[in-house]
Amino acid sequence: MPNVAGIVYIRLTAPDLDVQETFLSHFGLEKVLRTDTKLYMRGTDSNPYIHITELGEASVPGWAYLAASAEDLVGFAELDCASEVQEIDAPGGGNRVLLDEDVNGFTIEVVHGIEQVEPMPVRRNMVNWGEEPLRRTNEATRLAHGPATVKRMAHAVLATTDVEATLAWYRGNLGLTCSDDVHDQETGELMASFNRLDKGEDYVDHHVLFAMKGEVSGLNHVAFEVADIDDVMTGHEYLKSVDEYEHVWGVGRHSLGDQVFDYWFDPYKRVHEHNTDNAMFNNQVPGNKVTNSQDDLGGQWGPPPPDFFLGYGMP
Ligand SMILES: [Fe+2]
Repeated sequence: MPNVAGIVYIRLTAPDLDVQETFLSHFGLEKVLRTDTKLYMRGTDSNPYIHITELGEASVPGWAYLAASAEDLVGFAELDCASEVQEIDAPGGGNRVLLDEDVNGFTIEVVHGIEQVEPMPVRRNMVNWGEEPLRRTNEATRLAHGPATVKRMAHAVLATTDVEATLAWYRGNLGLTCSDDVHDQETGELMASFNRLDKGEDYVDHHVLFAMKGEVSGLNHVAFEVADIDDVMTGHEYLKSVDEYEHVWGVGRHSLGDQVFDYWFDPYKRVHEHNTDNAMFNNQVPGNKVTNSQDDLGGQWGPPPPDFFLGYGMP
């Protein structure tokens, strides 16, 4: 069975595409295509789009992973829960397989052959610190005010009424592998789990999927990598200055995964995360078992999460 090789885009629905587009532009995505019923937005990396919104009652249909080859895509089409290979009617074309994720009710897509585009230029701040105090010389830093610069989709996080069945589905069908399983420190119950791509010796983000126990199943948040730490803060200040969106959590640095993060609600209560500086692991690091104590889950710095957020899910 093949393993997925990346995460590509999120698919949402929203009753007003103008409202959604305005938020996503303020969040730091760039419009690629807008029709009467669909909105495609990209980041600065080479995927032609990383965020799709379709017109309709607000919901979260699912998200898409990458198949490493056309042969792998055919392998995914052989799963019991899979559709046949279909052509994608969207910028860059390509093919996909739809997987019926029946534990939480998502439709998970696996895609291959989407034509990549030129990355967009990004101005990064050169920082004079640590062992390299002379990276920027005879030049002043003047960061532009404005939205963050979103690079790519980084991970999806879901709340689920059944953590064990969720992990069996994503590990069994997509080949995801454990980074950290989080157990209740008193009962030992599996409460949550961070999972990464399995690409052998290649380094990957600490997690591409985090699943946590919740009262309902749904999307907890979708995360996008931005240019750097300055970009997280620039984006934070910009969204604050727009004064139309609800802030959820941050800025801080996670324990498990290490990222510097900042979370905001979109206009329909789907949480969108900016992050940067992921922990990068490969197959030399075995899956780890931790507890839900403050030591394991508390951030390395920054405020604690709001109470509602642990277990929050938007179907
Ligand atoms: Fe996240």
